[in-house]
Amino acid sequence: MSNVTFTIDGREVSGRAGQTILKAAEASGIYIPRLCAYKNLVPHGSCRVCSVRVNGRIQAACVQTISDGMVVENDSAEIREFRTAILDMLFVEGNHYCMFCEKSGLCELQALAYRFGITAPQYPFLNPDRPVDLSHPDVYLDHNRCILCGRCVRVSQELDHKNVFQFVDRGYRKRLQVNGEALAATRLAVTDEVTASCPTGALMRKRVGYAVPIGQRPFDAQPIGAGNLQTEDSP
Ligand code: SF4
Ligand code: FES
Repeated sequence: MSNVTFTIDGREVSGRAGQTILKAAEASGIYIPRLCAYKNLVPHGSCRVCSVRVNGRIQAACVQTISDGMVVENDSAEIREFRTAILDMLFVEGNHYCMFCEKSGLCELQALAYRFGITAPQYPFLNPDRPVDLSHPDVYLDHNRCILCGRCVRVSQELDHKNVFQFVDRGYRKRLQVNGEALAATRLAVTDEVTASCPTGALMRKRVGYAVPIGQRPFDAQPIGAGNLQTEDSP
C-alpha cells in the first residue's frame, strides 16, 4: 500500500493510504485525544474531542483520512481550547463526582480533564435527574455518568452482535436506552466486550470496581496519552 507523507504540528509523519489521521498519528507516537473512538470499531466522529485543524479546516481526526502534503495542527492553543470547551460541556451536562467514582484513575473523561488542566468547568452545572439501572446481576448502568459517546451502542452491535443499547430522542433530550425493560431483560453478559468499553463509570461490571486500589491505576501513574490508553489497533 502506498505511503503518504504529511505533517502534524510541523513534524513529518508517514502513513498508509486510507489510514485516518488518528491512526497514522498514533503509529508515529503522536497522541490525539479521543472519546468515542474505540479499538476495532468503525470510527464514528461524534464526540469531536479528536478535532484537529487540517489545511485550515477543523476536522475529526478519527474519521478524516490522510493525504500527501496535508498540514495538521493537533496541539495548538486554539485546538486545546476547543477540546477543553467540549470536555467542560460533558462535565456540566451530567453528574460526574470523580472523587466518589469507582472508575477514578481509569476514566478517560477524568484523565482528559487532568490533561487539559480542567479543575472546574467554565459553564454552570445542569445537575440532571437521571436513573441508575442496577437490575442486572453483574453489570450496572449509571446514566449520571453517561456522556453519550455511543461506544456501548456500537460495541454491542458490531462486536458483541447483541444490540443491547440504542439512543433515543435528539438534541438535549438525547439519551441512552436499553433495548428491553432494563439491563436484566437483555442478553447482556458480563463477558461481553461492551462491559469493558465505556470510557467513564457509566457502564460498569459489579463487584470489581476496587479490584485495583485507587492510586495504583493507569491514569494515577501517568497522563492519558502517555502509553496507557487503549490503542486504535484495528487494521
Ligand atoms: Fe458512552 Fe458509556 Fe454512555 Fe455508553 S454508557 S454512551 S459507552 S458513556
Ligand atoms: Fe473522533 Fe470522537 S474520537 S469524534
